[in-house]
Amino acid sequence: MKKKLGVNIDHVATVRQARRGTEPIPYLAALAAQRGGADGITIHLREDRRHIQDHDLKEIKKAIKIPLNLEMAFTQEMTQIALRSRPEKICLVPEKRQELTTEGGLDVCRIERALKKAMPGFHAKGIEVSLFIDPVSNQIECARRVGADAIEIHTGAYAQAKGVRRKQEYRRIKKAVEWASKAGLKVNAGHGLDYQNIFGICHIREIEEFNIGHSIVSRALFVGMEKAVREMKRLIR
Ligand code: PXP
Repeated sequence: MKKKLGVNIDHVATVRQARRGTEPIPYLAALAAQRGGADGITIHLREDRRHIQDHDLKEIKKAIKIPLNLEMAFTQEMTQIALRSRPEKICLVPEKRQELTTEGGLDVCRIERALKKAMPGFHAKGIEVSLFIDPVSNQIECARRVGADAIEIHTGAYAQAKGVRRKQEYRRIKKAVEWASKAGLKVNAGHGLDYQNIFGICHIREIEEFNIGHSIVSRALFVGMEKAVREMKRLIR
């Protein structure tokens, strides 16, 4: 299976929002990522709209030919936006107002009933639903039970750990990925991955797609988006 790369372009919008101006333009970054070989574009429309704005969602959806993955909190507002705008995929994430970035995985088991109820609505619009979770077996089991199509394993702890701790985190992820794949879930992974730590994880067979944002946008400042994406794609392939 050829591994895919989803490029998260939130931080292109972060730079624009620093001045509340008009540039850089996220949909142009999405097009450059597409030219660089991205298999998908990911954006997180946060409730506080700190980076990606509603008009970005429309513009990016219209501009790109590759699938759009909308990361979102599981709220009424976001559910309505997703059903209206119909991205190819959504990834449900926990969201806290004060956090700098998504800190932990979604507690799928806690909201199992609500998720199970919402799932047919997304599927009726042809939207693939992924749940962003920590590499924990009971969360995977709950994801399967609610009828999710995919999970995205939170790789943040792996990315931040060093030495023995990193090996432990790697084993945790590998086990979870195998478990989820056996349960019939499509498995993606992301958060904190960069041009170095991707080596330790990219050979896990069952992972279909990596979602990477911050490190690609950072590298793009120096080499351009197209090249930054091409380099990462080469590494994961
Ligand atoms: N996947 C999910 C669910 C995320 O919330 C994020 C951060 O927006 C990413 C992947 C990308 O993480 P990073 O920007 O650290 O590569």
